[in-house]
Amino acid sequence: MNLYEEASSIVKRLSLEEKCKFCCGIDFWETFGIEKFNIPSIMLCDGPHGLRKEDPENFMLISTKVVKSTCFPTATALASTFDEKLINRMGKALGEECRKEDVAVLLSPGINIKRLPICGRNFEYFSEDPYLSGKMGAALIKGIQSKGVAACIKHFAANNQEKYRMTVNSIIDERALREIYLKGFEIAIKESNPWSVMMAYNKLNGHYCSENKYLIQSVLRNEWNYKGCITSDWGGVNNIISSINNGLNIEMPGYKDDYYKVLQNAVKNNDINEEILNKSVSRVIELILKYKEGKKIPYKCNFQEHINLAEEIAESSAVLLKNDDNILPGNKLQNIGIIGRLAKEPVYQGLGSSNVNPNTIDNAYDAFINNNCNIHYADGYSLKNDEIDELLVKESIEIAKNKDIVYLFVGLPKYYEAEGYDRKNLKLPNSHNNLVYEISKINKNLVVILQGGSVMEMPWSHIPKAILLTHLSGCRGGNATVNLLLGKKNPSGKLSETYANKLEDYPSMRFYPGDKDNLEYRESIFVGYRYFDSTKIKVKYPFGFGLSYTTFQYSNMKVRYNNKNNIEVSITITNSGNMEGKEVIQLYISCLNSKLFRAKQELKGFKKINLMPKESKEVTFILDEDCFTYYNIQTNKFEVEEGQYAINIGSSCRDIKYSTVINKKGSNVKTPDYKGKSPVYYELYKKELNPSKLEFENIYGKELPIATNPPYPFTMNSTINDIKNAYGGNLIISAINKKAYKVINGDKLMEITVRESLNDQPFRLMVMATRGAISRKSVLGFVDLLNKHYVKGLLQILRNTKRL
Ligand code: BGC
Repeated sequence: MNLYEEASSIVKRLSLEEKCKFCCGIDFWETFGIEKFNIPSIMLCDGPHGLRKEDPENFMLISTKVVKSTCFPTATALASTFDEKLINRMGKALGEECRKEDVAVLLSPGINIKRLPICGRNFEYFSEDPYLSGKMGAALIKGIQSKGVAACIKHFAANNQEKYRMTVNSIIDERALREIYLKGFEIAIKESNPWSVMMAYNKLNGHYCSENKYLIQSVLRNEWNYKGCITSDWGGVNNIISSINNGLNIEMPGYKDDYYKVLQNAVKNNDINEEILNKSVSRVIELILKYKEGKKIPYKCNFQEHINLAEEIAESSAVLLKNDDNILPGNKLQNIGIIGRLAKEPVYQGLGSSNVNPNTIDNAYDAFINNNCNIHYADGYSLKNDEIDELLVKESIEIAKNKDIVYLFVGLPKYYEAEGYDRKNLKLPNSHNNLVYEISKINKNLVVILQGGSVMEMPWSHIPKAILLTHLSGCRGGNATVNLLLGKKNPSGKLSETYANKLEDYPSMRFYPGDKDNLEYRESIFVGYRYFDSTKIKVKYPFGFGLSYTTFQYSNMKVRYNNKNNIEVSITITNSGNMEGKEVIQLYISCLNSKLFRAKQELKGFKKINLMPKESKEVTFILDEDCFTYYNIQTNKFEVEEGQYAINIGSSCRDIKYSTVINKKGSNVKTPDYKGKSPVYYELYKKELNPSKLEFENIYGKELPIATNPPYPFTMNSTINDIKNAYGGNLIISAINKKAYKVINGDKLMEITVRESLNDQPFRLMVMATRGAISRKSVLGFVDLLNKHYVKGLLQILRNTKRL
């Protein structure tokens, strides 16, 4: 009997009430358990870059009452390593920390595509490219699960911005959906079989993801044959009855007295077929059984080893963007100026549910001292505000004088990147930008170290001699940075997202933020480098780019068919410089004579290798049919189009070293052609992409929806803003806001989140926001009141609200 069968046999012995209890959490983090069957309640915890096990009493987002754990670099950095083995080791370390804390499910990884450079959560996501995202996700998942702990891949799918994330309908044409937004999930799920999947908050093409039949049943279960447990995002269930009917297995979080009863009544009223409920419960119990089995796997949790690993990842992820005159590596005998508060107080992780309480945290300033460097330091700016402080600038100028080299630390301060709200733009604070200009007037040997989890504009990039991007680099980012600056380690990270020159260059920005209901992905498949390469728009730093202290030569590209009729591509790489170093060899495929609109090229392989000076290695890629496919919306399949394909090998998407053209036979089907109706998608080489509504509708295949939530009558999905014009609406809004600010109690992240997004939240979120103090029934009562059912509403509220 396999575990699913075992789970199903247990389900047969459960009462209806017990079964329903398994389909929602018993609190914020735990599932139901049942002793008589030896089924424990298990715990699910964030998060992607370190374990975040919360104190159940704790309300704040930046928690101090969270168990201490190793804080690893965030996903942007992980993807920039282009090193699956390394990320797999991190997964193992995460698994070990979960085991130590008896956490059964780690809510990790988040692999949503970085469609918009300003998405507040981009630091938590790997890349703009689905192949890289999928591969990194798979590596992490395999590591976590090898320790007997479930990974929970999230957020499925198309949750690509924070603004309106709880209500918005992401409108995406099927081809873009399959090739871009689902592809990373497909790769990771097929390759690593995560034991759970988290559905996203938003709607996708008209239906909330947590009740989206297409996503859950057609794609996940039927096409991908996914067998794990499907959970909601926290507070992401719109209607639990519809969710269970469409295949969701568990709603998280849940609250003891309220949630399961809805299900119980629904089964009694035949709104849910008990067989469907049984399947959901079986999946939840199977997950619990998997963890019970997993616990038999021996493990040890050595925090020091994990911290060292965090350092290794940080080193491997940093991207050297510029290094004129080989100013780097510096050496410790130099007379060194260090400027910038971030050198002492780094921004090393993003905010929100992934925010961990690190067991240790270092900084670059101390690391320079530990290396016995002769340093002179100035703050340069305050991290309390973004204003230029002339006094601090003056001090910095003094420090910069007569130094052999100046390391200037700039970046996105703490509250710039967070779950819950997007960035306003890609700019660094004025006070940081200003320093680059001011210090460069005093000292030409200027090296900028850039901290941040996502794309930043660098209007000054022509000025410093070197720029090292260190991302949000976790608990050992300081040591890692200094090891790289002093040449103890050689940078080998490559950009996992395009650094365009300016925000307006990203085509998705034209349709941002949509409105609270609808968000059109009109740019279709043209995301990230797929767009920039196709239009040939100049970018600041391209996808895949990153320098090294050594140099690499590419030679001898060979393409041949192996005995499985797959294409084997090999190339020789030589370290032609003087220092040991790592190179990431990237393989892109480009269809040269497509009848479709297609991106100029797509990443289909990468390998990271280490080479000693003068050493050469041959690397080989095996290309299967998948590498050449596009998604055919008429056959609903990935198909190969007959034609010529260039196989490009390079060290970034804009630095292709070798290219070979091959012919490929295609599947014998007609390719959909929109050239006549929507030429804009075919003409990127001529002009920037700005499709009209009609042009997008043509490829979307139907008319675009208009707002689906009319403001009246109000529903659980009406937002606080929606009631502005209702009778007494403004009073209610101000009362809610007032209460929220009172609860904040000095938590700055909550304050900003409330300011930026409280009024966009649907009423149903109140339950989670108050951790159950306001029950679902009282919110329903509140909605009744708004709809002028005063007595009914008032009674519901009085009966069901605990004291806050
Ligand atoms: C986030 C998830 C997270 C969950 C639990 C949600 O708000 O979107 O990524 O795992 O909270 O903290």
